[in-house]
Amino acid sequence: MSENFLTGNEVSFGNDEIIVSKTNLKGHITYCNDVFLRVSGYTEKELLGQPHSIIRHPDMPRSVFKLLWDTLAGGSEIFAYVNNRTKKGDSYWVLAHVTPSWDARRNIIGYHSNRRVPDRSLIEQTIAPLYAKLLAEEKSHANRKTGMQAAYQTLVEVLKDAGMEYDEFIATLRAA
Ligand SMILES: Cc1cc2nc3c(=O)[nH]c(=O)nc-3n(C[C@H](O)[C@H](O)[C@H](O)COP(=O)(O)O)c2cc1C
Repeated sequence: MSENFLTGNEVSFGNDEIIVSKTNLKGHITYCNDVFLRVSGYTEKELLGQPHSIIRHPDMPRSVFKLLWDTLAGGSEIFAYVNNRTKKGDSYWVLAHVTPSWDARRNIIGYHSNRRVPDRSLIEQTIAPLYAKLLAEEKSHANRKTGMQAAYQTLVEVLKDAGMEYDEFIATLRAA
């Protein structure tokens, strides 16, 4: 089955559940919990050592992942809404908290993510339309890199207009 195959079905998980994974510095999966395995439909053997993009959904804008990686590289944590793809091609939205893991000398030695079920109305009214706009911008350029940079700029502008960093933006949206 093609890794981009989509069923068009959306699935979810329990409000009291947390999807957990850890990666090395390159974003290759080193740990995932049982909820991750159940929701994604992969076995632990299929996931360990694989790039985290194995569950990337094609509707996700690259600019959001750029913000995620830039934030982590700067040593900060980030909250981000992410639409993921299961092994069989279903989708599932999460609110992810992603943070670097440090050793005793404050070197970043990997990354860690916990994910909860997001607020449904927020996804429908704010996040999905924003991501659709970013994706369209990315695809409107013949050159992939230029498109991603333009969308990243749009994302930064959206955050700037709100006068916030992405994690604050998300926290405010959650409270709204
Ligand atoms: C701890 C951690 C968790 C991540 N979780 C996800 C995730 O759930 N879904 C996803 O698509 N990307 C996730 N990513 C980002 C991926 O590493 C990757 O950047 C993204 O899927 C885009 O793929 P690409 O960089 O190959 O375009 C995570 C990264 C880290 C460090």
